[in-house]
Amino acid sequence: MEKFRTVTYEVHNPKIKKGVRFAVLADLHGTIFGEENSALLKKIQEHAPDAILLAGDMVVRMDPSTLESARNLLCTLAKDFPTFYAMGNHETKMKAEGHLYRNEYLEYKAELKQNGICFLENEKIPISLCGNLFVVNGLELPLEYYHKPFSPELTSEKLEELMGKPDPAAINILLAHNPKYGKAYFRWGADLILSGHYHGGVLRFSRHVGAISSQFIPFPQYCCGDFYKKGKCMIVSAGLGEHTVPLRIHNPRELIFIEMKL
Ligand SMILES: [Fe+2]
Repeated sequence: MEKFRTVTYEVHNPKIKKGVRFAVLADLHGTIFGEENSALLKKIQEHAPDAILLAGDMVVRMDPSTLESARNLLCTLAKDFPTFYAMGNHETKMKAEGHLYRNEYLEYKAELKQNGICFLENEKIPISLCGNLFVVNGLELPLEYYHKPFSPELTSEKLEELMGKPDPAAINILLAHNPKYGKAYFRWGADLILSGHYHGGVLRFSRHVGAISSQFIPFPQYCCGDFYKKGKCMIVSAGLGEHTVPLRIHNPRELIFIEMKL
């Protein structure tokens, strides 16, 4: 059976009134853990998170069978937990005009929405959890920001154009699949940034440093793990799956839980 580890981060924020637990899934890429994903479902249900945050790339853009496996998992989860879905580059490509599996993707999206999953495509939604006011922001970067190795800078103006401003009265969560622009996300003012995309690097040297990313960019600054700036936190997931380069060395697949506390 496919295996994953569970990682829990404690994140402190002065705006928290009562503790909140999130589950974060990134880069699932349609992976199935046990029959009908029973192992993953069981682990999430055991932890009973207050909400589930999806940091993109739940599917593989050229493999429509991943739509089926992601759909089964996410629709089951959405029965029990409020679920917020931000786009990765695979979703953005798959829904683009002219993509071979665009219709299949649009059906997948419609069914997830019908099952109560909240899609955030450069959109935000306020939500009250355990008496705390959150705004969940889902950033969907244009595909040029994924181009390797010469993607453009992400300016503050561009980020604000896509995502608006954070709400100073709320705890602002920014789901931003591509961690390359961590600096811009911190500057924007997110309280908690959640990313994925690099799959932790193919080979990991330490908690934060991957030798080479699955994108073949050596040592990305925000490769994997937790990063802090002025009391704000960014967590980059090693992901739950992979595609194309199915290689992981000292770099297990991971399911993340976040305990947000005062
Ligand atoms: Fe990605």
